[in-house]
Amino acid sequence: MCGIVGYIGKKQAYPILINGLKRLEYRGYDSAGIALLDGDLKSYKKSGKVKDLEHYLKKKDLNGTMGMGHTRWATHGAPNDVNAHPHLSETKDLAIIHNGIIENYYTLKEGLLQRGYKFLSNTDTEVLIHLIQDIKQNEKVGIDEAVRIALNEVIGAYAIVVLSKDDPDVLIAAKTASPLVVGVGKDEYFISSDVTPFVEYTKKVIYLNDGEMVIIKKGKLIIKTIKNLIKTPYIQKLEVDLERLEKGGYEHFMLKEIYEQPRSIMDSMRGRFNTSENRLVLGGLNEMEHRLKNLRRIIFVACGTSWHASLIGERLIEDFARIPVEVEYASEFRYRNPIIGADDMVIAISQSGETADTLAAVELAKSKGANVFGICNVVGSAIARTCHAGAYTHAGPEIGVASTKAFTAQLTVLALVALSLAEKRGTLGKRDFKRLLIALEQIPSLVEKCLASNDEIKKIAKRFKDSKNFLYLGRGYQFPVALEGALKLKEISYIHAEGYPAAEMKHGPIALIDEHMPVVVIAANKSTYEKVVSNTEEVKARKGIIIAVTKEDDTTMRNLADYTLEVPETEEVFSPMLSIIPLQLLAYHIAILRGCNVDQPRNLAKSVTVE
Ligand code: G6P
Repeated sequence: MCGIVGYIGKKQAYPILINGLKRLEYRGYDSAGIALLDGDLKSYKKSGKVKDLEHYLKKKDLNGTMGMGHTRWATHGAPNDVNAHPHLSETKDLAIIHNGIIENYYTLKEGLLQRGYKFLSNTDTEVLIHLIQDIKQNEKVGIDEAVRIALNEVIGAYAIVVLSKDDPDVLIAAKTASPLVVGVGKDEYFISSDVTPFVEYTKKVIYLNDGEMVIIKKGKLIIKTIKNLIKTPYIQKLEVDLERLEKGGYEHFMLKEIYEQPRSIMDSMRGRFNTSENRLVLGGLNEMEHRLKNLRRIIFVACGTSWHASLIGERLIEDFARIPVEVEYASEFRYRNPIIGADDMVIAISQSGETADTLAAVELAKSKGANVFGICNVVGSAIARTCHAGAYTHAGPEIGVASTKAFTAQLTVLALVALSLAEKRGTLGKRDFKRLLIALEQIPSLVEKCLASNDEIKKIAKRFKDSKNFLYLGRGYQFPVALEGALKLKEISYIHAEGYPAAEMKHGPIALIDEHMPVVVIAANKSTYEKVVSNTEEVKARKGIIIAVTKEDDTTMRNLADYTLEVPETEEVFSPMLSIIPLQLLAYHIAILRGCNVDQPRNLAKSVTVE
């Protein structure tokens, strides 16, 4: 978490930095700061959002053609002005911004305290700038060398940018385990946590690897490892357009992203199958084919919404390809001693491709010889680059913190993975395969139909905006949808919500049901339909208020429920891609009616780069 941005070139740095911070704000938004170098080293910081910083800076001296900015999600130290970044050296001539956690900061701090350094903040980051100053003074080295030596003493995760007042033509950045990209423009360079701050200036990017640093000195760029090995920069071409980073007339990114789903699902499918030829090609899986000969088991590792997608992936792969599947929280998996080996395939799902726990789970699986396949949205992200092979979801940038279009894009790719594995193993007949491909192809237009219920959902939202609790029930393919629907609501509206397997309700949550409890029942599947109806009866008998997500023309559920949200009919295995849509909209409207900030909910961040 935390977003960082740096600039060195001929333009004024401030407008680039402040706009960059606005685009990076999804990574953290409890405080923000900027440093500019223009003869003087000017550093300004403020608790609150980037717009609070912008307001605070209105009358300040913001001149300078190099600088850096930071938006924070607090780990060490409360979110206040002092703990905000940049942090300065005691001499006030060095400044640093940092994304990550310095795990041995306490030991380093002890040493610095003994050498007489005084600390102003409670952050781990301040330790690093004092350490750099200490090395620079004692070893009489330049700023780049001082940073390099200091980083050899650091254990943990970092993406940093450092400025030095005495070196007005040098910008230094480095990374390990936190993301950092360099944008290469004409006579200018950008450094950032992701590419969004500079897409309008350059399409040339360099993704730094762990343990690498970049030194931009007198207009020249040098990349070396912190062990002092010079590296040849590998410049890649970026394919993101500006329009996809803006709200495009919608009030919030989340709403825009919900409405983008017909297109983003289509983009996830594009070029990957052809129904008339009954052909499906997933390049990443083909690359791995030789590794999959003795495939014994698949294990999903993921967090949050991506974990919910994994639960659907489990069902799809077991149904289509008849391979045993397990689903693990990445944060649990990484600290167990899992029994996995060369016959196992680990599938890591991550929108950002950065989640620290998922990345660690991938590394653990690789170290045990498993074959690791990644399903990520952000191109060039750490998880995507660490896996043996993978498939991008191509949903486009997702900026709202609560994941929406990334989820349905993940489900699309999972359907393709499951079908492709089934084809390779001969577990699906040709006709079934074709029927499913045709059904998948129709999903974008069916999602469009689901979106048409928006006004109706708004009315339901009005009725329930003051509820204190919600229960979401589903079975089979709809159980993960119940979990995801509940997660959406709690993330952005702060209403307590629980997702539960509908039949499991009677083993506990049923005790919560009374006339104040809204229960969202997802009854859009064929296979357990009657059972879900019975479970709904059980809720009704205890006076619970029922909001049912049903197939069109389901009179049984319509009679039973207090409110119904209809979704079109599709193959049951793909129905989560439809039934989640009204639940995303319901959460959105409830949150808006409660006055919540849906794009930046409290305490959350989109990329969780800490454990
Ligand atoms: C954070 C986000 C969630 C996301 C989860 C996993 O908690 O707020 O929306 O589902 O991380 O992120 P990933 O990028 O790995 O899918």
